[in-house]
Amino acid sequence: MNRFRRLRANNRLRSLVRETHLNKSDLIYPLFVTEGVNKKNPVESMPNVFQYSVDRLDEILKEIDNSGISGLLIFGVPEHKDEKASEAYNCNGITQNAIRYIKRNFPQILVIADVCLCEYTSHGHCGIVKDGKVLNDETLPLLSAMAVSLAQAGADIIAPSDMMDGRVQSIRSALDNNGFYDIPILSYSAKFASAYYSPFRDAAASAPSFGDRKTYQMDYANGREALREIADDIEEGADMVMVKPALAFLDIIKSARDKFNLPIAAYNVSGEYSMVKAGAKLGWIDEKKIVMESLTGIKRAGADIIITYHALDAARWLEEDI
Ligand code: PBG
Ligand code: ZN
Repeated sequence: MNRFRRLRANNRLRSLVRETHLNKSDLIYPLFVTEGVNKKNPVESMPNVFQYSVDRLDEILKEIDNSGISGLLIFGVPEHKDEKASEAYNCNGITQNAIRYIKRNFPQILVIADVCLCEYTSHGHCGIVKDGKVLNDETLPLLSAMAVSLAQAGADIIAPSDMMDGRVQSIRSALDNNGFYDIPILSYSAKFASAYYSPFRDAAASAPSFGDRKTYQMDYANGREALREIADDIEEGADMVMVKPALAFLDIIKSARDKFNLPIAAYNVSGEYSMVKAGAKLGWIDEKKIVMESLTGIKRAGADIIITYHALDAARWLEEDI
């Protein structure tokens, strides 16, 4: 008989032989920025998540700065939306202004800028639409222009989440042509068409007004295709890759970890967050324990970086005994 229980006898022993350690520096907090003044709008489907206007950002930026996490992933929510997503690449757009504000006042916080058109288009799709179709190649120049304008505003990392083919290459060459050789790309490489994004679409006002995203985001049944997407993004110049969502896709994180040697991020998305918040509010689960177990599981599967709405809570809990 193997006596596995010998090493489980007390907390000191368990901690000595623990294989996976979640660190505060693994964590990235998603941040929603809205136009207007003196706004801190609660997101109804995401308890304790808010959209901030730039003049109200200090409160959350101080919290991020003091928490010990690595940084934030920024999403802008513009007032004006149109067919061409004009505000996405406006150098005075909401996201660009917010990034300039953050980097001026909190230069030590890593700012990852999400690149996608869905918050900026009148129809809510991630690309240019013609005759009810989301066009791939016509969307690429707009994504590239957006990426350059976010880099000009001071973004540290560019993170395309649109799932158009060829966008990493297109964005990489646009960044290089504008002198941003040193700005890394974190590509949302294996991004699945997922029901877990619905609370986010409240937060970012980005729900598609017709159809769905299944013609560009991946089928959640496909694991091998995810590895092809990742390999392709690496070839196109991605410095880091992402799997999204996280908890229903731990096998993808694990196979990506086994196959590729660059940093892997996992996005613990809005629906995953809201389910925990709802269960905890009802008193049916213990929020802290559930969150620490889930985030450790994502790390154990192979993620180096975890983007999560729980980041600030988790950073606090990591200071306490698990
Ligand atoms: C934009 C984008 C989405 C998310 C991140 N970037 C939504 C979508 O694809 O509809 C989802 C994040 C979350 O659910 O927390 N393309
Ligand atoms: Zn999008």
